[in-house]
Amino acid sequence: MCGIVGYVGQRKAVDVVLDGLRRLEYRGYDSAGVALVADGTLGLAKKAGKLANLEASLDEAGLPESTCGIGHTRWATHGVPSDRNAHPHLSADGGVALIHNGIIENFGQLRGELEAEGLHFVSETDTEVAAQLLGREYAIDGDLTEAMTRVCARLEGAFTLLAVAADDPDTVVGARRNSPLVVGVGEGEYFLASDVAAFIAYTTEAIELGQDRIVTITREGLSVRDFHGNPSEGRPYSVDWDLTAAEKGGYETFMRKEINEQPTAVADTLRGRIDGSGQIVLDEVRMSDQDFRDIDKVFIIACGTSYHAGLVTKYAIEHWTRIPCEVELASEFRYRDPVLDRSTLVIAISQSGETMDTLMALRHAKDQKARVLSISNTVGSTIPRESDAVLYTRAGIEVAVASTKAFLTQLAACYLVGLHLAQIRGIMYADEVKAVLDELVATPDKINMLLKDMEPVRDLARASAEFGRVLFIGRHVGYPVALEGALKLKELAYIHAEGFAAGELKHGPISLIEAGTPVIAIVPSPRGRSLLHDKILSNIQEVKARGAKVIAVCEAGDDITGVHADHVIETPASPTLLAPLLTAVPLQEFAAELATALGRDIDQPRNLAKSVTVE
Ligand code: G6P
Repeated sequence: MCGIVGYVGQRKAVDVVLDGLRRLEYRGYDSAGVALVADGTLGLAKKAGKLANLEASLDEAGLPESTCGIGHTRWATHGVPSDRNAHPHLSADGGVALIHNGIIENFGQLRGELEAEGLHFVSETDTEVAAQLLGREYAIDGDLTEAMTRVCARLEGAFTLLAVAADDPDTVVGARRNSPLVVGVGEGEYFLASDVAAFIAYTTEAIELGQDRIVTITREGLSVRDFHGNPSEGRPYSVDWDLTAAEKGGYETFMRKEINEQPTAVADTLRGRIDGSGQIVLDEVRMSDQDFRDIDKVFIIACGTSYHAGLVTKYAIEHWTRIPCEVELASEFRYRDPVLDRSTLVIAISQSGETMDTLMALRHAKDQKARVLSISNTVGSTIPRESDAVLYTRAGIEVAVASTKAFLTQLAACYLVGLHLAQIRGIMYADEVKAVLDELVATPDKINMLLKDMEPVRDLARASAEFGRVLFIGRHVGYPVALEGALKLKELAYIHAEGFAAGELKHGPISLIEAGTPVIAIVPSPRGRSLLHDKILSNIQEVKARGAKVIAVCEAGDDITGVHADHVIETPASPTLLAPLLTAVPLQEFAAELATALGRDIDQPRNLAKSVTVE
């Protein structure tokens, strides 16, 4: 959500900034803009729609030749996506340009104050308030860093801000509270961006900024301070993936590439995570073994696909550890008085590590003294930084908005956490843990096998495209997989797709079935809980009796399911609890193919953002 890029160095700023924005496109946006400064002039170009619209307008905008600038892709919150509401926004005198990610909650009050002073607003955005304030403060002493410090003191809410001033053409000033901002360090050049993807083509050296920080970059160096003006420092780190990881690598879309990267991503996430004594090694632990032993309740908080990973985890944690586990949408968690204390473990799952709903739920949990363990794909992001313990997934950068490899690696990491808890608390014997780990480690090869035979799934997807509705049913861990399959299809194809607990069908949703309705049933292994298997076969018969066309995702060799369903998609044999690592994969491919058949942009679906940094 909103991509932010700032640059100062020797290169043509417009090229660097546009290149960075292109690499942040995956975050989701609906307008874009740049501001460049050189020799006392400030040039601005901004356009609704994709980056191509902005690029087409650049000649006409007459931007100055510049080595210092800022750029933005906007995901609309306050005000429709339009040229006028696109960022950057200017101060009243046109001397300062500012871009913003987040929401300024007191913008109404600030706007009233500035209008009373006679300032005129040209957009409906909350951002323009910050631009106008910054212009007013900058006029006082001509120091952009000082001015930004005073502005931040007035703002409430979440924000990343970047600003440039016409008469200070070698400086970009940034500020962050609760929204992402990282620094890229090159030779004689510096970058500021929402994430490292924006500058990875130029440098892999980065600096993580703490909360409530202001950063100033010039060609000569950078300085960091807190919101009170006290000097501060960031944490330097090297990014361990390179540009090829962010390119399509021969695939038509990032999503297709990422689906196919899943065997490696899951294997990477498991690699080296189990020490000589069979203990799982977490990346960052500010909790003792005794803390883990004292836990008597687990809450999982997450959003979107990460929430579905949490739903699967509940089954594993309760089965392996016998600790009660609740899963909750992060956006709901903090608004209903959850009962938490020091012996509650909250597991926050977030690919980006920046999702505002999850971050706020995490803080709410910490306020109640609960321990927080996060599972994230983004080293140095806010959610892991504020957690007591962290296990990073190693999916690499995920560019497509619809999550695929992040989901599978979250599952792998969550299984590790469940086994860690079971072992540390002495609920499972070491050899039992090892037996599950052996099965987990065998999964990447099985995913690979599955991916080699996706053509039948694609055929079924294309054949289902004309129907305009697909229902998904599942039981036990198959239920969250059904929800995830439906979410993928909604996100990508913009058609009605819904996942149901198969047993609930008869309590209402079965009325949606008409002749030909495609129903995808996630069938558990007949070798696991055979009762579950029998029950879902009954549910398949119920929908078939009402005219549904049933596609069953079942284990290879499950001949009974084949008798009942119209089509089967076979997955390699797996223990019941680990099966989602396999059964989710054909559903991703199904959604991608069906959406492609409908002509959708599967990497950047309409209205969606990859990283949702507003509540
Ligand atoms: C957005 C994305 C989803 C993602 C969700 C949670 O809605 O479009 O794909 O699952 O945020 O993101 P997180 O980064 O917290 O896992």
